[in-house]
Amino acid sequence: MSSEVPGPDVVIVGAGVIGLVTAWRAGLRGLSVTLVDPEPAAHASHVAAGMLTPVSELTYGEEPLLRLGLASRDRYPEFVSELEDVTGMTTGYRADGILQVAFDRDDLGFLEDLRRFQESLGVRTEALTGRECRRLEPLLAPSVRGGLLAPDDGSIDPRRLTAALLAAVGRVGGELVRERATELLVERDTAVGVRLANGDEVRAATVVLAAGPWVCGLGGLPPGVVPQVRPVKGQVLRLRARSGLRLRWCTRGVVRGSSVYLVPRADGEIVLGATQEELGFDTTVTAGGLWELLRDARELLPGITELEFTEVNAGLRPGSPDNAPMLGPTALPGLQLAAGHFRHGILLTPVTGDALAETLTTGVLPDVAKPFTPERFS
Ligand code: GLY
Repeated sequence: MSSEVPGPDVVIVGAGVIGLVTAWRAGLRGLSVTLVDPEPAAHASHVAAGMLTPVSELTYGEEPLLRLGLASRDRYPEFVSELEDVTGMTTGYRADGILQVAFDRDDLGFLEDLRRFQESLGVRTEALTGRECRRLEPLLAPSVRGGLLAPDDGSIDPRRLTAALLAAVGRVGGELVRERATELLVERDTAVGVRLANGDEVRAATVVLAAGPWVCGLGGLPPGVVPQVRPVKGQVLRLRARSGLRLRWCTRGVVRGSSVYLVPRADGEIVLGATQEELGFDTTVTAGGLWELLRDARELLPGITELEFTEVNAGLRPGSPDNAPMLGPTALPGLQLAAGHFRHGILLTPVTGDALAETLTTGVLPDVAKPFTPERFS
């Protein structure tokens, strides 16, 4: 028999980093919030490395996304300090720059193009020779040709971040229901809540879908209201440095045209990622995927073969039709989206939380988020 849970102001489907930050920031604005997720922070947020770099993963023509990324990166210091203060937890946030290095002449040409693109957009980066790269990061191979330093970029530990956000949601009275949402409830052409796998309903003034690549799988969605979100697999390794082999810099590399990154944490963990594969909802870890990552990483940092191997996972990035997030109201009254963040979910966490909290309380998206209305696809 189904039972009705008394309704909050907002029900959020999905408690990954985006659902969690939306819940926290909306709760801070005085809204009552229920999150629905059988496994909070268990998917992409758990696999992600946590680089905070607005430019490195952009392609030409994505200037509004760059502005959103810069706005989010610049909010991070205050966001983290508020989150750490209210929870007493740490997030592993670092804002000491990201080093990008090139393996061969063509890779260096790619980085030079990237630097010009960044400069044309007013983003601060410094071009470095191979020697200057090695002076900064002595573990780099002698063959590294040169690189770029993005002094304002950084990183965070997404697992610590989501744990802190979960605690912060509790501090603002948010409720977490560990169930799967199966169906959107629509009455008189308005979203009024969700039905859960156990038959319960959670009714709310607004439903926010933040379920990553599963966002379109909810039953009851009227056709065309939620643009397609596709899963983009990323395989990621976790290694651990023993004494003496500490990577100083969060390092991205281009090796014969392929990208690889290594994100060090203060406790000696190094996260090495990531493949980019469009294979539906497959999360198989493959020998080939791991081999490519290790092969490219070893070209840049030969010493990584000495590291202890601790973990491997594959996560699914949520890719919208234009690879940019979808934020705020949809064409269906009562239904909002916080979805489709693709490679930028951790970076865009603060700005997404603030944009959703704003539109949930005032009905208006802040200017920086306006280009990302889901209605751009209609
Ligand atoms: N932003 C890192 C990745 O998507 O692999």
